[in-house]
Amino acid sequence: MRRRTAVLLSGRGSNLSALAAAAGNPAYPAGIVLALSNVPDAPGLALAAAAGIPARAIDHRPFGRDRAAHERVLLGALREAGAEILCLAGYMRRLSPLLVNAYAGRMLNIHPSLLPAFPGLDTHARALAAGVKLHGCTVHLVTEALDEGPIVAQAAVPVLPDDTAATLAARVLVQEHRLYPLALALLARGEAGTAAAADACLLNPLPAGGSLA
Ligand code: GRF
Repeated sequence: MRRRTAVLLSGRGSNLSALAAAAGNPAYPAGIVLALSNVPDAPGLALAAAAGIPARAIDHRPFGRDRAAHERVLLGALREAGAEILCLAGYMRRLSPLLVNAYAGRMLNIHPSLLPAFPGLDTHARALAAGVKLHGCTVHLVTEALDEGPIVAQAAVPVLPDDTAATLAARVLVQEHRLYPLALALLARGEAGTAAAADACLLNPLPAGGSLA
């Protein structure tokens, strides 16, 4: 049975597109039932709509500093859509305990670094400044602490001598688009954190056409 999955985003939506593409395979264990954003003109919402995915914006600004009040409305939309799993994909707001607890163990986030290195913003520039030779991305379960929570899957890329933050970001993003569908499939099948997930910790790019279903 496909697990009903919502994606929460604030911007571009390339990871949403990767998840939607994976879910286009009927054998994939999750279906994307809603794209939700706090930014009314987020490009990701338009991508979702073009892919036939219901897209909704719930602007955070009228709620001021009351995060929980905004999240109560988000939760209403998620419940209406029957979302069992929630994927954060470039959602640029801190979460309150309300949303974290409502989806405990059922909410994933993708972060553009090999956590626990470089939590927070500007990860690619910080990786370059630190001189690391491997960088990458992480999908983890969301807990109350920012960019923490049990790691579900990681993919690494080399840092090359001529890299800029932009070239490194582009190399990582290719892996994000392969890793996130894999991690969601693991969670949807109840395999996150099991031996079956070991293959999802990757030093090399995922095999092209590797089975995500
Ligand atoms: C990605 O780099 C993701 O790792 C980070 O935010 C970015 C979102 O990109 N959390 P997109 O909107 O999915 O294209």
